[in-house]
Amino acid sequence: MSTNNNTFGNNIELATQKLMASELVAFPTETVYGLGADATNLIAIKKVFAVKGRPSDHPLIVHISGIDKIELWAKNISVEAYKLAEHFWPGPLTLILAKKDTVLSVITAGQDSVALRVPRHPYALALLRNFNGLVGPSANKYGRISPTSASHVLEDFDSKVGYVLDGGPCAIGIESTIIDCRDNNIKILRSGGVLASDIARVLQRPIVDKINIFANKNNSTLNLNIADNNSVDDACELKVPGLKSSHYAPQKPLYVLSIEDIADKLNKALIKQTRCAVLSFIQCPDKYKNTNVSWYRVDNNPATFNKLLYKNMRDMDRLDVDELIIEKPEENSAWVAALDRLGRASSD
Ligand code: TXA
Ligand code: MG
Repeated sequence: MSTNNNTFGNNIELATQKLMASELVAFPTETVYGLGADATNLIAIKKVFAVKGRPSDHPLIVHISGIDKIELWAKNISVEAYKLAEHFWPGPLTLILAKKDTVLSVITAGQDSVALRVPRHPYALALLRNFNGLVGPSANKYGRISPTSASHVLEDFDSKVGYVLDGGPCAIGIESTIIDCRDNNIKILRSGGVLASDIARVLQRPIVDKINIFANKNNSTLNLNIADNNSVDDACELKVPGLKSSHYAPQKPLYVLSIEDIADKLNKALIKQTRCAVLSFIQCPDKYKNTNVSWYRVDNNPATFNKLLYKNMRDMDRLDVDELIIEKPEENSAWVAALDRLGRASSD
């Protein structure tokens, strides 16, 4: 990891200069770190795709400093979309809206919609005030685990970014909720820090969050609340690559299992001498102490679990083990974002 002061620190002016010189700057948000580039600078945006190894048909979120900049990027904004922006921004909610013609098509992958978000981190907001907008995909190599600290960004990119603005560990730790607000049939495209019930409360009407947990893997569907009048299937005409069934993944095979299935797997692993790292809600049982099992404990609480999930996955992935195992949280709406990410990160 590079700790050179020129590439790593909390100098917002330097970060601004680098962005203005078409360089990339990773910046902290309350969800995960973003890989920032000036959203009006084609050369810089192309660098984002190149450095991440991201296919060009994957659109980018434009981050803005406040609701006053929404009309620089989007048009035909509904009353409900404004209501949600006013309520949740700054915060972990991304709105998909009809794009203005002036938005570079490289950002939207040629689609006529644009994704907008105002992040809550003070450094991100200070930086964003100097720009109309910054694109900011999660600052990780394509398909890999999102970064929740500056050092995670450097692990993936090191000298490939002009500067990493270090704002400490991310408070939420899981990416923003993305909702399609192009018409009145509001759809959740990616679960995240804002829950369907939070949106429903603000709009005072039911909102569906029907996502395929462990999509295409074991057919388990968590059908969360309310009227079944829309679904991610309908939304798939929109390209939302973060919904691919393999994403957010560690290098080692990852299994997401109930505590009973973990016990079975570990008993077999002890016989086969397989080395496993386990993340569980309970303390390490005595029988696994001083064995090939590395045990991590985390609170059985969605906010704490989410905040530490990507860090824990990275830490476990770095160990000299063969397999990673994470205890599967309860299937209920409070855990929907965690279950979604675990499903996409897991190997079966
Ligand atoms: O929390 C977050 O949203 C973080 C932080 C850095 O803000 N950003 C993030 O960006 O997760 P990224 O690029 O890793 O994921 C953005 C997701 C992708 O799945 C992309 O396909 C989707 O947003 N997206 C962007 N523009 C879109 C559009 N016009 N229509 C549909 N999906 C879009
Ligand atoms: Mg990402």
